[in-house]
Amino acid sequence: MIALSKMAAAVQPSATLAAGAKAKQMKAEGITVYDFSLGEPDFATPEHICAAAVKAMQKGHTRYTAAGGTPELRSAVARSYQKMYGISYTPDQVVVSSGAKHSLHNALAATVGPGDEVIIPTPYWVSYSDLVQMTGASYVLVPTTLESGFKMTAEQLREAVTPRSRLLMLNSPSNPTGAVYTRQELEAIADVVLEKNLVVLSDEIYERLVFGDAQATCFATLRPGLAERTITISGASKTYAMTGWRVGWALGPVSVIKAMGNVQSQQTGCPCSVSQSAALAALEGDQECVEIMRQEFEARRDLVCQRLQNMPGVKSFVPPGAFYAFFDVSEHFGRTLGGRKVTDSMSFCQAALECAHVNVVAGSAFGAEGYVRLSFAASREQLQAGLDRLEAFLK
Ligand SMILES: Cc1ncc(COP(=O)(O)O)c(C=O)c1O
Repeated sequence: MIALSKMAAAVQPSATLAAGAKAKQMKAEGITVYDFSLGEPDFATPEHICAAAVKAMQKGHTRYTAAGGTPELRSAVARSYQKMYGISYTPDQVVVSSGAKHSLHNALAATVGPGDEVIIPTPYWVSYSDLVQMTGASYVLVPTTLESGFKMTAEQLREAVTPRSRLLMLNSPSNPTGAVYTRQELEAIADVVLEKNLVVLSDEIYERLVFGDAQATCFATLRPGLAERTITISGASKTYAMTGWRVGWALGPVSVIKAMGNVQSQQTGCPCSVSQSAALAALEGDQECVEIMRQEFEARRDLVCQRLQNMPGVKSFVPPGAFYAFFDVSEHFGRTLGGRKVTDSMSFCQAALECAHVNVVAGSAFGAEGYVRLSFAASREQLQAGLDRLEAFLK
């Protein structure tokens, strides 16, 4: 038998992908499953983006590109940040990777290692802890709750800092909670970052999906000197319904961006050439598709929140961004639901899937026991029908 490396043995499979796999298996058995577990837009990639990919193939853009992405795409990413936030990046401050998850991995690989501590506010996106562990660094979790709007305060951050603290991971709008930090809240955090000499990995992948009067803030813009210690992560997956194309990017200081490019030059060679042409068309083309999808997500958010507010034993939160509802179901722990004893978020989700055929993800996967995450990247009809079933199950 081949012994696994320490690193591989410690890595957990993504809990959200695992939950999706179980639902798929039930579907294959002919069961109608209301699958609200996956973090991917249910929309098709807009036509003009697909057309750009076809054209790129026909023109022979099917070869290796520069390791850190084509100069055209890197420039387009830089231009989009100038346009959105007024922040100036040169193309050599941008690196394109095979998805934002890959960007996060390479950013961590380029900046932390054994002996370093990475601060992660909870609830956090499932991959963060494993990605940190893969570098040999350790992580320190800072808990937040529904009552605090799932946001870490500057004071909490100050208390979490130790002499080994090196990097803070931020994610606003957040997966799994949909929380969006205000500019003032982030400014207070930025002051602690500067005072304590931290590096920030700011995952802003849901930046174009905010609702009502919520606004996404680019962390790097908040204080002089912050851009020099911030690596901003985003990508095409959520904004343009391009999850399968695998295009993400990072913006930051030239030295880190160059190191990330070196890492991926040895690792994947380069991001997919055709996908890069598609992402270029996405960034440079008409942005109406983004607004249409955003409006639909907002309508679904309203529908889901209104339904959750009326469900027994559920404490819900109205997410100002992303496409997830994260709600407290701990009142049901200790009860029998659908003939199954529910003791924690995992057993709650198993019972909901097996009895109500509703697939949601346990809060424990996000470092937040007591909660579950429902993705509203599904049609309104599906959401209504699934929520009917969930409500009946809880009653
Ligand atoms: C917070 C967050 N960051 C990064 C990603 C990765 O996105 P991708 O690798 O598809 O670009 C996701 C996807 O679910 C996410 O929710």
